Amino acid sequence: MHANIVVLPGDGIGPEIVSATLPVLEAVARRHGHSFAFQEHDIGGVAIDRHGVPLPESTLEAARGADAVLLGAVGGPKWSDPNAKVRPEQGLLAIRKALGLFANLRPVRPHPAALGASPIKAGLLEGVDIVIVRELTGGIYFGDRTRSETDASDVCRYTVEEIERVVRRAAALARSRRGHLTSVDKANVLETSRLWRDVASRIVREEFPDVTLEHQLVDSMAMHLLSKPRAYDVVVTENMFGDILTDEASMLAGSLGLLASASLGDGRTGIYEPIHGSAPDIAGKGIANPYATILSAAMLLRHSLGLEAEAASIEAAVSAALDAKVFTADLAATGRAVDTQQAAQAVIERLG
Ligand code: IPM
Ligand code: MN
Repeated sequence: MHANIVVLPGDGIGPEIVSATLPVLEAVARRHGHSFAFQEHDIGGVAIDRHGVPLPESTLEAARGADAVLLGAVGGPKWSDPNAKVRPEQGLLAIRKALGLFANLRPVRPHPAALGASPIKAGLLEGVDIVIVRELTGGIYFGDRTRSETDASDVCRYTVEEIERVVRRAAALARSRRGHLTSVDKANVLETSRLWRDVASRIVREEFPDVTLEHQLVDSMAMHLLSKPRAYDVVVTENMFGDILTDEASMLAGSLGLLASASLGDGRTGIYEPIHGSAPDIAGKGIANPYATILSAAMLLRHSLGLEAEAASIEAAVSAALDAKVFTADLAATGRAVDTQQAAQAVIERLG
């Protein structure tokens, strides 16, 4: 098949991890007889520098016309002045919203070879296989904001429809897996959470009677995620809770550098990006872990292009590289660490 992939390297380590990932996609294309055209565009801080805005119209137009979007990361100290009118992160939020990508899938599957890198006891991690479905285009991230000399506010608002569609997506995923869905909220305090809980209960009862639904309060979920991670299958939650819980969950996998994500809407076009940020402290050194981006590219093949076997071959190759202890610095602890390009090369060598 032929596919047009828009590539948004962004800031910090973004360009390094993306340029390590494209050869992996090219290698897969060669092996399976596909052709992928990559079209690079600006987003985030680099777009502010070149165009004055974090999401130029040309980037959005290209993304709308693409089969899929591969994104690195946005943000950095250069654009972090709290009084700045425009911020790199606004570009990321705007493109997610503009493309209607309301469901953000973040799989957490600790790899046996990386268990030593996790601060959690290995015995708790074996067999952990969770997908966190984070609502991505609503809630406090997109509510009205005010700011005066003496106060500030951020509105958290959810509509029934916004909750329904993401719960449906998560419940369908649970049905295709182990049939267990955990909905996370703060219904003992927040009105949006009480609505969330009502809607989640109704959708699962009416449309997914074969799926088991459990509700968890976000504070206790933060604890259970570390104390009994094997208890979870699919977890669905609102935007900010999902942001926080997925950084926490990355510690189960041993490194933030291992968690991929797919942001999906009703259409086929999605944005695929690692869950980590631009890591300005290590940017430009060529030592960032590219596995999360490579695994995001696998999700791109699966969800936007329908290339399941190709996606699985990338995942197997990353797994084989980890088995062979091809570790970047974030995973290596005391042993020898490879650089970004070497890690990507190790994946290419192991593609089936
Ligand atoms: C993420 C990031 C973004 C978010 C930031 C960069 C706006 O933390 O994708 O998890 O909060 O959604
Ligand atoms: Mn985040």
